[in-house]
Amino acid sequence: MLADILPPKVAVRELRGDPPGVPHHPQETVHVASALPQRRAEFITGRHCARQALRVLGVQPVPIPKGDRGAPVWPAGVTGSITHCAGYRGAAVALRSDVLALGVDAEPNEPLPEGVLRTIGLPSEHAMLSALPAHRGIAWDRLLFSAKESVYKAWFPLTGEWLDFLEAELTIDADAHGFSARLLVRGPVVDGVRWSTLRGRFTVRDGILLTAVAEPSVSGR
Ligand SMILES: CC(C)(COP(=O)(O)OP(=O)(O)OC[C@H]1O[C@@H](n2cnc3c(N)ncnc32)[C@H](O)[C@@H]1OP(=O)(O)O)[C@@H](O)C(=O)NCCC(=O)NCCS
Repeated sequence: MLADILPPKVAVRELRGDPPGVPHHPQETVHVASALPQRRAEFITGRHCARQALRVLGVQPVPIPKGDRGAPVWPAGVTGSITHCAGYRGAAVALRSDVLALGVDAEPNEPLPEGVLRTIGLPSEHAMLSALPAHRGIAWDRLLFSAKESVYKAWFPLTGEWLDFLEAELTIDADAHGFSARLLVRGPVVDGVRWSTLRGRFTVRDGILLTAVAEPSVSGR
């Protein structure tokens, strides 16, 4: 699914469950030493997916510790993103010479719990959601949430800063399976250009909704 919504230079790996006996590194599992088994399993499988994707890039499958505010610490010259939800684990990685910012997010294709949309959506986004085609079997409110999380995962490694749900205004293009996020705060300057918008794509299959943001580097365009 991830390969459908990311550029070809991004290597991806996905699994629908947690295979037993996956090798893991103590530098990583220290972060989930006291976590519940399910959290530990998703953490280990997510990193397993990431290392398999790194192999595709020709990068040594090194440990991927947890860094500032939970962001994975990728090997030098690499950017990436990890996601997991019930029944899905996935990772995407790319060389920074090709892709500057990467964020992926998986969610169940189900409406958000009562009250969540009010806290994560701007008035303009509420209006947009009500105009999206209801018959396509897509939980558009959940898609909005997921797209914002993908935006944050792409944003954070570039800026090291928090980005609130209400600090980016999203527009979803149902037909193109895409979205754009207009930053309502000052965006980072990357390659001499101030970013004001991030773009992404989405797909929905087998009860899982996936969003991805990948901003190419100047040389990767
Ligand atoms: C960090 C966050 C996006 C994770 O999303 P989630 O749906 O809860 O969980 P997912 O399974 O999809 O992703 C979790 C993975 O995200 C990655 N992650 C966590 N913090 C991160 C950060 N600051 N930057 C980049 N990636 C991060 C990690 O790899 C994590 O998995 P791991 O702990 O097993 O390594 C979410 O918990 C959060 O804090 N959101 C608030 C900020 C936000 O989304 N703002 C919207 C701006 S428009």
